Amino acid sequence: MLQDAVSPAIVWPNEPVLPRNCTFEPDDWAILAKHWYPVAMARELGSAPVGTKLLDQPLVIYRAGGETVVAADICPHRGVPLSLGTQTDEGVVCAYHGLRFGAGGRCTHVPASPTRDIPDRMRTQTFPSVERYGLIWTCLLPEADSPAPGDIVAMPHWDDAGFQQIVCPWIDIFGFAGRQMEGFLDVAHFAFVHTDTFGDANNAEVPLYKAVRTDYGFEAEYWSTVGNYPIGVEGRGVPDFNWLRHFRCHLPFTATLTIHFPGTDRLVIMNAASPVSAKVTRLFAPMARNFDTDLPLQDVYDFNLRVFHEDKAIVEAQMPECLPLDPMMEAHIPADMSSLAYRRGLRDMGLSRFFTA
Ligand code: FES
Ligand SMILES: [Fe+2]
Repeated sequence: MLQDAVSPAIVWPNEPVLPRNCTFEPDDWAILAKHWYPVAMARELGSAPVGTKLLDQPLVIYRAGGETVVAADICPHRGVPLSLGTQTDEGVVCAYHGLRFGAGGRCTHVPASPTRDIPDRMRTQTFPSVERYGLIWTCLLPEADSPAPGDIVAMPHWDDAGFQQIVCPWIDIFGFAGRQMEGFLDVAHFAFVHTDTFGDANNAEVPLYKAVRTDYGFEAEYWSTVGNYPIGVEGRGVPDFNWLRHFRCHLPFTATLTIHFPGTDRLVIMNAASPVSAKVTRLFAPMARNFDTDLPLQDVYDFNLRVFHEDKAIVEAQMPECLPLDPMMEAHIPADMSSLAYRRGLRDMGLSRFFTA
């Protein structure tokens, strides 16, 4: 029996183990690892296994029959990343000796011993996986194998009739997810960072607004005359229109923004900042809108990319790279209500004051 030749040492432990070369403080990692994050777009899967990282944990994502498997990206045989392998209908095939791993991470084929039994414990470590908003979500330290209501952030209007669902390609930001999130929630930078896309250099004043605590984080309704139509698109402006931007911040790293355009037009943007490590963030951005639904998606992708690149340049330059949760460590202005609420929320989660490595 092959089973006799298998050392227990190759079986992955179920207890949480910090990833090698973890860039987070161990206590912060254990708190963050209990949350769900997107790790790939569903449309990336199919022809090849997808390799990625979450909180420094290397992951491989593959299909096995109808199942999407999120697993540790290491073959339990001799430690080769499974993401170097190939995708078949039955699962992922390791590049080194061709062991195949299928549903539940179980090894289903050993080419060198094709007729021997394969012990059930010959499997990769897997994590739960859920597909939502066109994204694959996972959690490294889940309470249960499937998400409880609220584990995966709710996106307004995604399933509403008349709304188009758009999954923008992700972008990598070489900065910390907390800094990126804070930038998404920031309403004082439009007149300086986004003047080539939608901002107005002559409209920098931030009217007072409130950040209201919720069970998931906080929300803020921000009213201003800063429009959201792309610059250069003629005939769409409504003079003196008062725009509502409704932010919902879900701790730690996801937010939604519902922008109330003139009339009943709505655009919802989800900012899901997936922490690859403490120094790299993969930003996923599903959107929903009930206008311009017949226009080419590529135009939305391109415009969104330009906006996020404007933000990326700032986030990658910020010092320190981490997010200081001690209110005394950076200066604040009245427009920072959301930023202060965000930092307070992260502090209340028990994260380090100087967050993170
Ligand atoms: S290392 Fe993967 S099959 Fe041997
Ligand atoms: Fe921005």
